[in-house]
Amino acid sequence: MKLLITGGAGFIGSNFVKFVAREHPDVKITVLDALTYCGNMDNFTPEILRNKNFSFCHGNILDEKLVFNLMKKQDKVVHFAAWTHIDRSITLSDPFMDTDFKGTQVLLEAIKKHPVEKFIHISTSEVYGSAQKVPMDEHHPIAPQSPYAGAKAGSDRLAYSYWATYKLPITIIRPFNVYGPNQYPEKLIPFFITNALENKNLLIYGDGKNTRDWTYVTDTVRGIWNTLEKKNIDGEVINIGSEMEVNVIDIAKTILDTLKKPDKLLEFIGDRPGHVTRLFANRKKAKSLLNWEPKMSFDKGLEQTINWYIKNKEWWQKIRTKPEYKEFETLWYGQLRKNSKIKGVK
Ligand SMILES: NC(=O)c1ccc[n+]([C@@H]2O[C@H](COP(=O)([O-])OP(=O)(O)OC[C@H]3O[C@@H](n4cnc5c(N)ncnc54)[C@H](O)[C@@H]3O)[C@@H](O)[C@H]2O)c1
Repeated sequence: MKLLITGGAGFIGSNFVKFVAREHPDVKITVLDALTYCGNMDNFTPEILRNKNFSFCHGNILDEKLVFNLMKKQDKVVHFAAWTHIDRSITLSDPFMDTDFKGTQVLLEAIKKHPVEKFIHISTSEVYGSAQKVPMDEHHPIAPQSPYAGAKAGSDRLAYSYWATYKLPITIIRPFNVYGPNQYPEKLIPFFITNALENKNLLIYGDGKNTRDWTYVTDTVRGIWNTLEKKNIDGEVINIGSEMEVNVIDIAKTILDTLKKPDKLLEFIGDRPGHVTRLFANRKKAKSLLNWEPKMSFDKGLEQTINWYIKNKEWWQKIRTKPEYKEFETLWYGQLRKNSKIKGVK
């Protein structure tokens, strides 16, 4: 099988690459990634980079010529590429609209011209907004609460429309929150772990009681692989969530306890505008269609993640010391600390 993976140098994409290379070594993988601030060649092990069935294309999904050419040679596609940080989308939404929405349209046009056997669009549970009823199944209203979620909701429905209109073999996966090794340290769990390791405050939005449904990344990528193998699921939307709901304060406290750091590192700041209060998945459809269930408990997954960040200091320190990382952190948290109105960077 020839498999194109967009955004394969990011967090979930690179974990998916490692899973496929290990479990299905005959698959010929091509990663297309623009290496934005969060795409990272360090996410690939030397074995992956040496693997003759792995090739890396440094390019943008908005580049129609490149995408159309690449698509001629593929059997299946998993589309992860996106701008993914909600906070950043609040300060500057342009790259989210460009990549998450328009970039997806370029890929969909490419498979219309050069048909593939399967196209998996990676959407997100953020498209639902705060839970209106729980558990949240795939019929939950779409009510995005951030520019990121709005762009993802648009691309989720766009992918659906290409199935409805052209009967292209498209399946939409909506992962709930994912965590684990190689997650960019601006995201909640690695942000807390790396801050705690540097004896910096763990900054908590609002009252910290917001909950998310957390899935360990190896479980998420297994669900995506099952989707690739499964026949007769074109046009389906499937949640990949764990039904393990944990609030932000509990996560922060567990991280501090595990690292033997004091509770005084907890700092409550202003809330994020549009902050989703609760996400809690119904995963019945993933069980019935994909025979998928999570294997990792939250406690074990968090412990493994903390250990990974302890052992891989070089990986995250390289990111956290970049001017770009510090600039955004100072701008964003500076405003929330003052509880002031969020200003954009335009
Ligand atoms: N991390 C989560 O908790 C989570 C949950 C639900 C859904 N998702 C979705 O899963 C996908 C992957 O998320 P992630 O956490 O791995 O993100 P990430 O930010 O770590 O990685 C995104 C990757 O996409 C690449 N990229 C961005 N713009 C591009 C462009 N124009 N062309 C080519 N490559 C581009 C980046 O360089 C990066 O490698 C995204 O679509 C995201 O919306 C993530």
